[in-house]
Amino acid sequence: MTAVVIPYAPRPAFRAYHASPKRFGVTVAHRRAGKTVARINRLIRAAVENPRTAPPPRYSYVAPFFVQAKDIAWQYLKHYAAPLLAHGGKINESELSITLPGNGATIRLYGAENIERMRGVYNDGVVADEAQGIAKAALTSVILPSLADFAGWLDCSGTPRGWQNLLGELVKMARADPERWFCQILKASETGILETNELAMQKSLMSENEYEQEFECSFDAAITGAFYGKEMAQALFEGRICDVAWQPQFPVHTAWDLGRTDDTAIWFYQRAKSEIHIIDYHAISGADVVDLATTVLNKPYVYGRHYLPHDARMKTLAANGRSIIEQLHQFGVKGQIVPDAGVQNGIQAVRAMLPMCWFDATACELGLDALRHYQREWDADRRCFRDAPKHDWTSHPADALRMLAVAWREESGPLKRPEKPRGIENATFDEIVNRKPAQRAPVY
Ligand SMILES: Nc1ncnc2c1ncn2[C@@H]1O[C@H](COP(=O)(O)OP(=O)(O)OP(=O)(O)O)[C@@H](O)[C@H]1O
Ligand SMILES: [Mg+2]
Repeated sequence: MTAVVIPYAPRPAFRAYHASPKRFGVTVAHRRAGKTVARINRLIRAAVENPRTAPPPRYSYVAPFFVQAKDIAWQYLKHYAAPLLAHGGKINESELSITLPGNGATIRLYGAENIERMRGVYNDGVVADEAQGIAKAALTSVILPSLADFAGWLDCSGTPRGWQNLLGELVKMARADPERWFCQILKASETGILETNELAMQKSLMSENEYEQEFECSFDAAITGAFYGKEMAQALFEGRICDVAWQPQFPVHTAWDLGRTDDTAIWFYQRAKSEIHIIDYHAISGADVVDLATTVLNKPYVYGRHYLPHDARMKTLAANGRSIIEQLHQFGVKGQIVPDAGVQNGIQAVRAMLPMCWFDATACELGLDALRHYQREWDADRRCFRDAPKHDWTSHPADALRMLAVAWREESGPLKRPEKPRGIENATFDEIVNRKPAQRAPVY
């Protein structure tokens, strides 16, 4: 039998991780520590050494998004498994999976945004990488039940983004239950993996909070400069970024920000009691009023109100002295102006509204990305964030959401947060793991 050599030697900081026999594990490590490489090699080793042939062993790697899984893990998987694949097996480039020769074990990459693809399959081991960006429901309703058939293991890792997300929750749970959980926190000042000069350079370019978070694994450093970091993380954590169905029997309202030379951003939403269902998002670059009206009217929705910013009243010479609101009106889009509440006040209105918002993950993907990144301007001289937002690609979507929030506040009065339904998505990790087999979700 020929010996196969995998080109991986664990970094000293990861030896304890590879040696741990525990079924559940979480590693919080500084950026570039090698957590993804370590996990890919754990998957390969477990797949090779699994003696079962029927059904063939199956292992999965999950990142928050499929494209992210492809970017951060696919090359590693092919590289480290190459000596095995040289003896047979196969690579499936579209599915992002490999099948090993011998026992026919597969290792497949998934994106948590489409975790339904994993529903109904068994797993012998699952890695959830960048767990701070994975919805809790992906873990509790799909990943954990998939481990039930063969007492599979779960291995999570990431870099902190405050406590209010899956990684934060897993760390708390692991610390409270060291018998069952392996838990490792790897700070750059302790691992010696990155050069001191490199760390000093990184520190000089970042805010203190950001450095503490990215390199010293601080869960308490505030999410750096992001206006809605906490609220968006909470929305993800609570499963409010999901499939949100359009309900044709109810009107769809829109909220706009008008870009004169760049993007116009429009959110499309419906009200469902105290919930706001944001079902669609559209950004149009360099569009004139005809394009804007056509885009809106071409959607299948029956409209309620169109909320526009106050600059829609501005009259332009090019349009023979007519304002945008007048022109839109002419094309059948009857807008109304949202009172100018000011930027800071508007941001507060968005913060108060976000806990009631449900976003369609697919249709709103670009807008959601902007909301996560909408941030304060960094003052390099004073080394602190200014109160004012940074003007960049996130500004229009964020401003359009401000219109929605101010309009909503004006119309609804004081806001009351709806009660959370208690389904499997809200079950605790312990509740899922400790269920009796008969109560578990079906596993095939
Ligand atoms: N055991 C190892 N031996 C040699 N190089 C390694 C090892 N582990 C990781 N590396 C290298 O270190 C770099 C970072 O690795 P990896 O992507 O796994 O880090 P990470 O902690 O997942 O980073 P990020 O925080 O960006 O996700 C890569 O260039 C990788 O090839
Ligand atoms: Mg990584």
